[in-house]
Amino acid sequence: MSTAKKEYKRVTVKSLVDMKATGEKISMLTAYDYTMAKIVDSAGVDVILVGDSASNVMAGHETTLPITLDQMIYHASSVVRAIYRALIVVDLPFGSYQSDPKEALRSAIRIMKESGAHSVKLEGGKEIKESIKRILNAGIPVMGHLGLTPQSIYKFGTYTVRAKEEQEAEQLLEDAKMLEKLGCFAIVLEKIPAKLAQQVAESVSIPIIGIGAGSGVDGQVLVLHDMIGMTHEFNPRFLRRYLNLYEEMSTAISQYVDDVKTQDFPNESEQY
Ligand code: KIV
Repeated sequence: MSTAKKEYKRVTVKSLVDMKATGEKISMLTAYDYTMAKIVDSAGVDVILVGDSASNVMAGHETTLPITLDQMIYHASSVVRAIYRALIVVDLPFGSYQSDPKEALRSAIRIMKESGAHSVKLEGGKEIKESIKRILNAGIPVMGHLGLTPQSIYKFGTYTVRAKEEQEAEQLLEDAKMLEKLGCFAIVLEKIPAKLAQQVAESVSIPIIGIGAGSGVDGQVLVLHDMIGMTHEFNPRFLRRYLNLYEEMSTAISQYVDDVKTQDFPNESEQY
């Protein structure tokens, strides 16, 4: 596999397909606001996902279901204002595309027009085929999402690994091929066996981005707040924490409280 890294001034859906073709792995992280997105973009992440995980991470909901289209547009617009290089993908939230293809297209158009993002992501396979087709026909790039699809949590009942049984694995592979055929530019595979994820990545020409799907895929995505350790209660096996910001921020904030209480802050040089 080639390790040569081409410089992409601006990452596009075409760059991602090129990266897969040359064996360059794709890095993807979530961001939901201007300040974080600026750091993520300048650190060289290829794709920024304005994920509906904002429902958990930013709003404190238990699931991704409550977040609205207006709220997703608000988050996406903030991210768009920060970005110079990364490709921005925005999740279509639960309830904004499942009822019919026309509604799906209207929701995707609102995201593109009102936020200035570059593409949308939808969860599901053959059951949302017509919606994906309609969005693609309007010239909007679509990323698919298979495996554990958190918007269906009440159907699954748990967040455990998906597609361990043969029938579900076969359906997933079929769905991935269908998404490729329709014209999706990439697919997220969430929490499925590594062997199956690799098989999918080898069966399609579009990039497969994994989260809890092992190393045999074309790229990786994590939720930013998890990988920098701002969250600390969520500890799945696939998560690598690069920082422990929860602890570090708590220590700094406690220090500030102490400094205010003891009148250490502000000192002579911190006032006018
Ligand atoms: O919303 C999100 O953050 C996602 C990732 C987990 C892929 O969909």
